[in-house]
Amino acid sequence: MGRFAKNIRIIDYAMHQLIFATNNAHKVQEIQPLVPSGIRVITLAEAGIDVDIPEPHDTLEANADEKSGVILQMTGEDCFSEDTGLEVEALGGAPGVKSARYAGEPVSHDANISLLLKNLEAVENRNARFRTVISLRWKGYRHLFEGICEGTILKERRGEKGFGYDPVFLPDGADKAFAEMTLEEKSQYSHRAKAVEKLIAFLKKEG
Ligand code: IMP
Repeated sequence: MGRFAKNIRIIDYAMHQLIFATNNAHKVQEIQPLVPSGIRVITLAEAGIDVDIPEPHDTLEANADEKSGVILQMTGEDCFSEDTGLEVEALGGAPGVKSARYAGEPVSHDANISLLLKNLEAVENRNARFRTVISLRWKGYRHLFEGICEGTILKERRGEKGFGYDPVFLPDGADKAFAEMTLEEKSQYSHRAKAVEKLIAFLKKEG
């Protein structure tokens, strides 16, 4: 019994802890199942951090860096953040970095979708993509990982799951909108899962 308890503690110490700099529970839910058991991702709340980090920049990369940089400064610990935008071809890449506040304040996913559908009302070209940038602060260095999911904007909302623009985004090769998919199904296509795969590959290589 004593030896068993000791072994458990050894496994505990071997686990590397990484803070995920987000307050978005959906993002945590999507990322956690993709992370191997040797790495423990903890949320800002679990790290006891209550902060609303601004996203003042005009690129996803700069905003992701801002978020991971703030948490690194506050904690001194390895951490990562991610920033995502929906880029619609016929709108010149909008809403892009402004995706969260496309329809203004207060942030409303429903209002954002309504504005997007209105702006695409008479538009044939529905091509769009989600782009995620992860900024990792690891042992004093910064690393960026990108994930892209190509697709099209539907004419009407479909499904109740997910968040943000999920009800109107149909990934290429899928017959369901993101909001009609389980977490596992969304992960087969998603921008976030692709960026996380690159992050995990890096962490595995680094040991
Ligand atoms: P953030 O700045 O990375 O939190 O993302 C900006 C906005 O993009 C969010 O508020 C959502 O509206 C949208 N968004 C980000 N990721 C997704 C996703 O996976 N599905 C649908 N919308 C998303």
